[in-house]
Parts: sequence; C-alpha cells; structure tokens
Amino acid sequence: MDQPVRLQVNGREYRLLVPVHRTLLEVLREDLGLVGTKHGCELGECGVCTVLVDGKPTLSCLLLAVDAEGHEVTTIEGLGQDGALHPLQKAFAELGALQCGYCTPAMILTAKALLEENPTPTPEQIRDALSGVFCRCTGYVKIIEAVGTAARHLSAGTSGSR
Ligand code: FES
Ligand code: FES
Repeated sequence: MDQPVRLQVNGREYRLLVPVHRTLLEVLREDLGLVGTKHGCELGECGVCTVLVDGKPTLSCLLLAVDAEGHEVTTIEGLGQDGALHPLQKAFAELGALQCGYCTPAMILTAKALLEENPTPTPEQIRDALSGVFCRCTGYVKIIEAVGTAARHLSAGTSGSR
C-alpha cells in the first residue's frame, strides 16, 4: 500500500508516494538520489546508513520513510554550505581519515551531532560516540584524530583549511 509523505531533507521539501514498508534509506538513495547515505546490513548493526533526524544520529535502514514525516533529515549532501566543505569533511580529507569512504558519511554525521552537544570532546568521548559505525578499512585512529581536529577548528571559529 502506498502512502503520500512529505519529507524535509537537507532543508528541502519532497512530496512522494511511497510503500508503507519502504525505509528512509531506500527513499533517500533510490527515490531522491542521495547516495551519500550508504547501504550496509539493513539490520541496524553496521551504522553506515546513519543520517541525522532532528539533529540526532539515526539508522535510516530502521526508520520507515512515512515515519520521517514532520522531522528534519540531514544527509551528508546537506552538510557543506555554499559549496564549501564542513570542517569535519575537511579534516577527514586532510588527515586521510578514510580509505574506501563507505563509512565516512555516517562517521561525519555522527561526529557532527557529537560536536553540537559537546564541542570539546575527549578522544574517549569521540570513540564512544562513533562506536556504532563500523569502518572496515582504517583502524579508526585517523578518524578520531580528524574529529578532534575539526572540533578545535569549530571551537576557534576557523574553517579548517591548512
Ligand atoms: S545498513 Fe547497517 S545499520 Fe543500517
Ligand atoms: S573507510 Fe572504508 S569502511 Fe571506513
């Protein structure tokens, strides 16, 4: 059964007719073309499908699209402003905190939520916040460093450019 739904994604409203069982992950990737949100286990275990819903990290594979109505969804495509990368994106790129990049959108969005709640996290707090997102490549050290670097730039009000 299809149901009309109005979604707010990255500040834009989308009106869609979607099957009631369709997940937000499927709608984002397949209907809206926002493929920065990654498709992993679809079981709530790997974390790579994380988006922000009203600013909170949320597994988009476990949320029905119809239940996202009335909430503001942010994907990695909505993070940069006016063509400029977010300081977290810059820090990940400059420190080489990624290899294949599959986990990176979820890592960055989860880190964004952390820094909004706690602008000066300790490495332990960063590790804890990111613990639900699995990276199969990097070993996490650079990822933790990149979040710390971005936190320092954001706190200092600098862009993060070298
Ligand atoms: S795809 Fe693995 S938790 Fe959503
Ligand atoms: S960079 Fe490949 S999964 Fe994290």
